[in-house]
Amino acid sequence: MTTLAIDIGGTKIAAAVCDENDSIIQRWRIPTPMDADAINQNIATMYKEAVASGHTDIQAIGISAAGNVGADRKTLTFAANIPAWINYDLSEHVGALIDHAVPVIVENDANCAGWGEYVHGAGQGSRNMVALTVGTGLGGAIVIDGKLYRGSFGMAAELGHLPMVPDGDTCGCGLRGCAERYTSGSALEHFAKSAVRRRPQDAKRLLELCGGDVNKLEGPMVSQAAQEGDALGLYAFGKIGEWLGRTMAAVSAVLDPDLFVIGGGVVAVGDILLEPARYNYARFLEGSAYRGHAKIVAATAGQDAGLIGAANLALR
Ligand code: BGC
Ligand code: NA
Ligand code: ZN
Repeated sequence: MTTLAIDIGGTKIAAAVCDENDSIIQRWRIPTPMDADAINQNIATMYKEAVASGHTDIQAIGISAAGNVGADRKTLTFAANIPAWINYDLSEHVGALIDHAVPVIVENDANCAGWGEYVHGAGQGSRNMVALTVGTGLGGAIVIDGKLYRGSFGMAAELGHLPMVPDGDTCGCGLRGCAERYTSGSALEHFAKSAVRRRPQDAKRLLELCGGDVNKLEGPMVSQAAQEGDALGLYAFGKIGEWLGRTMAAVSAVLDPDLFVIGGGVVAVGDILLEPARYNYARFLEGSAYRGHAKIVAATAGQDAGLIGAANLALR
């Protein structure tokens, strides 16, 4: 018995055939096409290829997608960063292309990654876990008493859109001051760029890394500079770390988890991000000195967390 897991990211679609323990036995990776139809076609093609290459026992397709997924686990009701996905029945669109050979289950990307961490990664053994995926946006997953919490309309754990700053920066969702404007890969880039513009005299290393054009500065360059000890790189991580801490403190006021698992590409810098996050979590936690604190750890399932979680959730 196998599952086909699909992880639709901003730049690439990853796909994997997973066995009953969610272990990956075959994988694909293609660039994410621009339009929704092409995404559907690609998923259908990967399914057909998987079957043709011998995986005739695929029970379901589990799709991880960056957006609000309705309680039906089929429909993308709204995606802050993908305009075509408004009340979009991704399950039906893909299903129609494969003659509904197997059920197609859609899950929020951060829910998949967080659940992947819970069953096979850094979340194992926790009772109440919150995972935060720090990528282009900020995604969330909530596990309560060992179960993924979806809320009443399927939209729980949209932690990137916690309103943190009144009248703050405009978010892809149309609101202002959302957490992901201040803590995400995009926010890291933003903090680093504005620091370079304000303090060009201190920006030698960052400017070197982006070939002298601050508009070309990208997250991985900021990570590299910070890891080399560069002051502006560390400053930018300090900022997103601070906002990550504030966000976790707000989440703790509602859910009181025992563990936060931080995932996404930027967490590769480890304590450079996690130390300011832990510090500010403790600082903004209500009654901080008189209560238990959640552990804050880096994700361990890596880039495959979303696939593993999607595979697991597709059958549950
Ligand atoms: C989206 C979420 C998604 C997160 C991570 C946010 O902008 O609203 O649905 O989980 O980004 O990709
Ligand atoms: Na989520
Ligand atoms: Zn928002």
